[in-house]
Amino acid sequence: MATMFRDGLLKGKRILVTGGGTGLGKEMAEDYLRLGAEVYICGRRKNVLDETAKELMARHGGSVKTHSVDIRVAQAVDDMVAEIWADGGPLTGLVNNAAGNFISPTKDLSPRGFDAIANIVFHGSFYVTHAIGRRWIEDKVKGSVISILTTWVWNGGPFTVPSAMSKAGVNIMTKSLAAEWGPYGIRLNAIAPGPFPTEGAWARLSPGQSTDGDGSREGIPMGRVGEMDELKNLATFLMADGCEYLTGQCIAIDGAGFSGGGGNFARLSKLSDEEWDKMREMIRGANEK
Ligand code: HXC
Repeated sequence: MATMFRDGLLKGKRILVTGGGTGLGKEMAEDYLRLGAEVYICGRRKNVLDETAKELMARHGGSVKTHSVDIRVAQAVDDMVAEIWADGGPLTGLVNNAAGNFISPTKDLSPRGFDAIANIVFHGSFYVTHAIGRRWIEDKVKGSVISILTTWVWNGGPFTVPSAMSKAGVNIMTKSLAAEWGPYGIRLNAIAPGPFPTEGAWARLSPGQSTDGDGSREGIPMGRVGEMDELKNLATFLMADGCEYLTGQCIAIDGAGFSGGGGNFARLSKLSDEEWDKMREMIRGANEK
């Protein structure tokens, strides 16, 4: 897929991607780097982060710096953000991408199992946003935050309740702070991706299924999983200058998976013309009774 954006679009931007060592975070970090931004990635595993930074810089040049941090620890997050500020000045963008999730019947979850997810997604996303946002206000920087959510923030997530609850909270953080920090020119938006296969998410959400996404096509009106470039283009659009009036939104990019599931009739897209003919006869028959 061709890039939608001109070279150098993000020159002068300094962007932190949490969980940027793997998966969707790595993909977004790569696009920001390719388009001229200075990129910071953080995560728990230093070796994974360093390997990713090396790989991305070899491919695109530029600067990717790594910070090993557990975003569940507020002080560690604040220390990291202070270090980044000292390293090259204020960040201009943040992607709250780090997450944890696994499928489990909710009745079998232990409190620690719930906390393992909620501490990363609910608490951790707040800690990072808060540490950066308050510095933006102090330094008069009009920063942009993107949080990676899911469409479950609207209709709930059976078997992924800790994630659904936590991400719904981050959705409300997005809307609340868009209003509270709007006067400072700070924007917060969210992206709700449908299935974009990555090894980490698939291993925990669709164990045993390959990442070619076969198991996820069912029920998605567009009949396929997402292509990573589509997600990256949206993440770049929201980070670039030119859409300053766009804030407080959660944008689904899911091939209409959410809309298709809402009315329960999405399955009718499988009917052939002949089956529709039969269906019409049956309906008319019911009218005549
Ligand atoms: C039930 C589980 C469990 C499982 C862990 N626990 N895995 N319970 N089923 N599969 C419980 C443990 O038993 C323990 O409770 C508690 O959780 C803490 O376990 P730890 O292993 O110590 O947790 P921790 O090392 O903090 O690991 C966190 C994690 C792990 C979230 C559990 O999977 C992780 O680090 N994931 C990070 C990456 C990730 O998940 N990526 C996918 C994100 S996908 P007890 O009571 O036994 O001590 C995503 C996208 C969603 O978010 C949208 C897709 C459309």
